[in-house]
Amino acid sequence: MAWTVTIAQQKGGSGKTTLAAHLAVALTGGGVRKVAAVDIDPQGSLARWYARRIGDDRERPTAALTFSRITGWRTQAEVDRLTRDHDVVLVDSPPHMETEAKIAVRAADLVLIPVQPSPMDLWATQPTLDMAAGEKRPAMLVINRLPARGKLADAVRGEIAALGVPVSPVTIGNRAALAATLLDGRGITEAAPRSPAGREIAALAEAILDHLDR
Ligand SMILES: Nc1ncnc2c1ncn2[C@@H]1O[C@H](COP(=O)(O)OP(=O)(O)OP(=O)(O)O)[C@@H](O)[C@H]1O
Ligand SMILES: [Mg+2]
Repeated sequence: MAWTVTIAQQKGGSGKTTLAAHLAVALTGGGVRKVAAVDIDPQGSLARWYARRIGDDRERPTAALTFSRITGWRTQAEVDRLTRDHDVVLVDSPPHMETEAKIAVRAADLVLIPVQPSPMDLWATQPTLDMAAGEKRPAMLVINRLPARGKLADAVRGEIAALGVPVSPVTIGNRAALAATLLDGRGITEAAPRSPAGREIAALAEAILDHLDR
């Protein structure tokens, strides 16, 4: 039986798809776990990434990572089917409160909510938290795109603590390498595992597995 992780955030551009792609690769643990990446966003960005990935002949461990694009009401059945032969089903959802996102949240063992460190992004997170709470699904926030310098980190952590929701101990920095690697159909943990971004994504994957294991 697999764990289902849904990446959700009503606020657009928070990094859902970026994290979905990199985490999908990282969660395979280099081929130890079988991961199903699922795109339920009509924009299909994760699908584009995966198309690049398999369209390239360079050798890489794709067998551990499968991909499905699902729309609408089929989500629950498809996720159920995928859990039968994968260890982790990772769902990237669209940036609004459509039925699809709700179904994907309902199917999740963990709802991962990326939040950029700005007041607007924080304030826009409440509806997603409410949706997870409404579906009685555990949620974990992850601060994404944190600038290297400044007092923002502490201020944002303080605000997030006040929300009373678990926060990932791992924060993802503002890392251009994360975008560049996607163009290539790759995950940062295979392209540059020792880079700062590579270490952060690997650590976030571990934090997710730890959280699910509890
Ligand atoms: N940690 C990061 N460092 C640098 N750039 C990032 C990071 N995370 C996301 N981005 C950039 O932010 C933009 C939005 O990211 P992405 O498309 O993953 O967000 P999204 O939440 O999936 O958006 P949507 O709500 O439209 O689906 C992209 O340009 C992406 O490259
Ligand atoms: Mg997206």
